[in-house]
Amino acid sequence: MANSSTLKNRYSFTTLFFIFLFLLSIFLFNKRHLEPSLSLYRNFFPHSNTNMSLLESTSPDAVTGADPPDSSTHLPIPPNSEMEPKEGNIATNSTIHALSVENERNPTTANESGGNSSTERTEKCDFFKGSWLRDEDYPIYKPGSCPYVDEAFDCQTNGRPDFDYLKWRWKPDGCDLPMFNASDFLERLRGKRLMLIGDSMNRNQFESILCLLREGLPDKSKMYEIHGHRITKGRGYFAFKFEDYGCTVEFVRSHFLVKEGVRIDGQGNSNPTLSIDQIDKTAKRWKRADILVFNTGHWWTHGKTSRGKNYYKEGGFLYPKFDAVEAYQRALMTWAKWIDQNVDPAKQLVFYRGYSSAHFRGGDWDSGGTCNGETDPILSGAFINTYPLKMKIVDKVIQQMTTPVILLNVTRLTSFRKDGHPSVYGKNVANGRTVSLRRQDCSHWCLPGIPDAWNELIYATLVFQQTTSKSQRY
Ligand SMILES: *[C@@H]1O[C@H](CO)[C@@H](O)[C@H](O)[C@H]1NC(C)=O
Ligand SMILES: *[C@@H]1O[C@H](CO)[C@@H](O)[C@H](O)[C@H]1NC(C)=O
Ligand SMILES: *[C@@H]1O[C@H](CO)[C@@H](O)[C@H](O)[C@H]1NC(C)=O
Ligand SMILES: *[C@@H]1O[C@H](CO)[C@@H](O)[C@H](O)[C@H]1NC(C)=O
Ligand SMILES: *[C@@H]1O[C@H](CO)[C@@H](O)[C@H](O)[C@H]1NC(C)=O
Ligand SMILES: *[C@@H]1O[C@H](CO)[C@@H](O)[C@H](O)[C@H]1NC(C)=O
Repeated sequence: MANSSTLKNRYSFTTLFFIFLFLLSIFLFNKRHLEPSLSLYRNFFPHSNTNMSLLESTSPDAVTGADPPDSSTHLPIPPNSEMEPKEGNIATNSTIHALSVENERNPTTANESGGNSSTERTEKCDFFKGSWLRDEDYPIYKPGSCPYVDEAFDCQTNGRPDFDYLKWRWKPDGCDLPMFNASDFLERLRGKRLMLIGDSMNRNQFESILCLLREGLPDKSKMYEIHGHRITKGRGYFAFKFEDYGCTVEFVRSHFLVKEGVRIDGQGNSNPTLSIDQIDKTAKRWKRADILVFNTGHWWTHGKTSRGKNYYKEGGFLYPKFDAVEAYQRALMTWAKWIDQNVDPAKQLVFYRGYSSAHFRGGDWDSGGTCNGETDPILSGAFINTYPLKMKIVDKVIQQMTTPVILLNVTRLTSFRKDGHPSVYGKNVANGRTVSLRRQDCSHWCLPGIPDAWNELIYATLVFQQTTSKSQRY
């Protein structure tokens, strides 16, 4: 090849590059301007505001809600639970505020001078401040199509008649999330182990991520549980292998992240205890993961845990009575210490998924609370703006850690979505079986549904992190 043709090539490449930049800037510019009008669409939705403030008045700061399918079976449900939902009154002007995506600071995003303006924006972008936009392209996988959704979350198959709740996409105010791309997500997980550790709410998220990633496989048989186990709430460990990517996605059950135990009392009865200064015995598994996603929270409101009588242990000492919130804080600090001592931030990535809001009307998970008939998100009101005390503790603990922990701050995002719970569709009521209004699940989520958005945020974090680290390096 002669020199002149190399030069020519270089010349045309440069020209093409500038044309590309120019087109990109026009594209970005237009996109920014189109978005606000898109969001207006939400204003046409009815403002059906149930009186959720009722819930909060009982325990304004405590983490309400629980894990009904895992635990409510132990508890009698009061007979008054078969009541119809009361429609409430919290519709206010702030509705509009909550809905509008503000016209962004800088519509002329394409600032070619630096080339890193988009990085700057994503660094500042708070993924968790935003709104749900109507999007007909959702959900990402068809209801009933994913074999990894267990019955408790398989709402459409179970007979849920409405499906508007499937058609919302989370949109941060400050930026656009990358469009979800399952095969790209799998590519980023190549050779890695992704592990979700926590309670059944994390199993909910685990099933969601399996279904999302499954969409990236042309041959669905190239993904399987390594021991052939089917997902049930009774089992505490699952590992799915994606053959073509050499990666696994695993779930480790750990309700409290610290060590559960039993104590035999004077009468010979065994009672549960919780050692808040010792890490859970499943922690040896945690070490092996490359990406970890933790949660705990819902179990801290259960009877034993919240009463705190002869339950909490520290240094071998059993406290006759101990405050549950203080115990929660100490347990999280035990977890934080373990992470700092055992996780290598250069090789491992740690997420903590924040409290997922529950929406029980007229009671709690164990006292006849309901959420049936909810087909629209909450659009405004105090319920959305409340940040639980236990989450403030999480924020503080994470801040003090030496290992960077990414908080998936989903509390607010989930608060909007009173329409997303299984409610009475946590078991199959299709084929003419009668719907029981008792024992409703208003803390977990239907799948497809809200946990898909949490996993999209994990994906977005991986995508943006790559952009950021590149620009820092070069
Ligand atoms: C909403 O809840 C508040 C607080 O519990 C209560 O004072 C008010 O009467 C309720 N409003 C309706 C319409 O139920
Ligand atoms: C709603 O907004 C209107 C006009 O801005 C105002 O007059 C009215 O007092 C507001 N209502 C509430 C409940 O804030
Ligand atoms: C582009 O970036 C430069 C340097 O960061 C800044 O001074 C300028 O104001 C930016 N222009 C626009 C249109 O944002
Ligand atoms: C690029 O990004 C870095 C870090 O965010 C910032 O300090 C720098 O000013 C940016 N450069 C330009 C030209 O915008
Ligand atoms: C998704 O990601 C794959 C792998 O990175 C890529 O080949 C494909 O073009 C992407 N699809 C879309 C729609 O962006
Ligand atoms: C998480 O979001 C809440 C709003 O729901 C906010 O008050 C809080 O500061 C956020 N936490 C962090 C660590 O960003």
